[in-house]
Amino acid sequence: MPEKQIPQSIQSEQPSISNCPYGPVKCKDCGEEQYPIHFTNPYTEAIRWFPATEICDNCEKIKTEIRNLEEFYAYAGLDARHKTMIFENFKTLTEQARQAWIFLSAYAFKSPLPTANVFIFGPVGIGKTHLACAVVNSLIQQKRYVRFRTTVGLLKQIKETFGPKSGATEEQIIWRLTTTPLLVLDDIGVERPTDWVKEIIYYIIDERYNSLLPILATSNYSLGELSEKLDDRIASRLSEGRIMKLDGRDYRPGRV
Ligand SMILES: Nc1ncnc2c1ncn2[C@@H]1O[C@H](COP(=O)(O)OP(=O)(O)OP(=O)(O)O)[C@@H](O)[C@H]1O
Ligand SMILES: [Mg+2]
Ligand SMILES: [Zn+2]
Repeated sequence: MPEKQIPQSIQSEQPSISNCPYGPVKCKDCGEEQYPIHFTNPYTEAIRWFPATEICDNCEKIKTEIRNLEEFYAYAGLDARHKTMIFENFKTLTEQARQAWIFLSAYAFKSPLPTANVFIFGPVGIGKTHLACAVVNSLIQQKRYVRFRTTVGLLKQIKETFGPKSGATEEQIIWRLTTTPLLVLDDIGVERPTDWVKEIIYYIIDERYNSLLPILATSNYSLGELSEKLDDRIASRLSEGRIMKLDGRDYRPGRV
């Protein structure tokens, strides 16, 4: 640790200074002893004492860092489970999973991100959301902006703007989704495909496509199936990029 630069008139002192009214304080976080600070008025030479802070500079810096990261998590919209899904705890049990891991762990460090989309599909419980969240978590650790939404959650958020108690407007929500550097759209295809749903999803995908901003989507459906279920224009735009099929057994049953 480099020596802290303290102006001459402000010094951290051992508590042996006779007229200091404060004793040393242990940092609440790391326990390191902290000393009171005194300030000498350069004109009158009068000394004024201040108690030591409850948290040392080092721990304060760490706390600020965590707070900053929390902002990126809040922006991304990750919940507790999603925060645990990282590259380090993803087991590459199949060759497809290994290839996906290799591709996505490199992808997350590309800056800027490639404009091409990424589409991961396959049956339930095989790690699609895990890999998508691993990308999100990696970007957050790098302090980069990314938004994660399940398709159902995204549609719900937009619907809520129709209510009287809504905070943000529909335009604001859609603007956030269409301008973020990476939108991760989890579980596309599970929503009931009403005309409104198709229109909203198409709009978001098309806006991002036109702005050269990527989407990383996951689905239980292939692009062919999504084309039938939703809209071929949606599937066509998502198909422009890397398509990854994952297979294998459901990771969920029997897991503790
Ligand atoms: N290869 C893996 N290594 C470690 N954990 C895994 C792996 N695959 C899945 N998991 C874990 O199993 C659970 C289910 O995985 P995940 O949510 O990613 O599945 P999914 O493919 O998105 O399924 P669904 O289609 O139902 O959304 C998660 O808790 C995830 O962390
Ligand atoms: Mg999933
Ligand atoms: Zn400390």
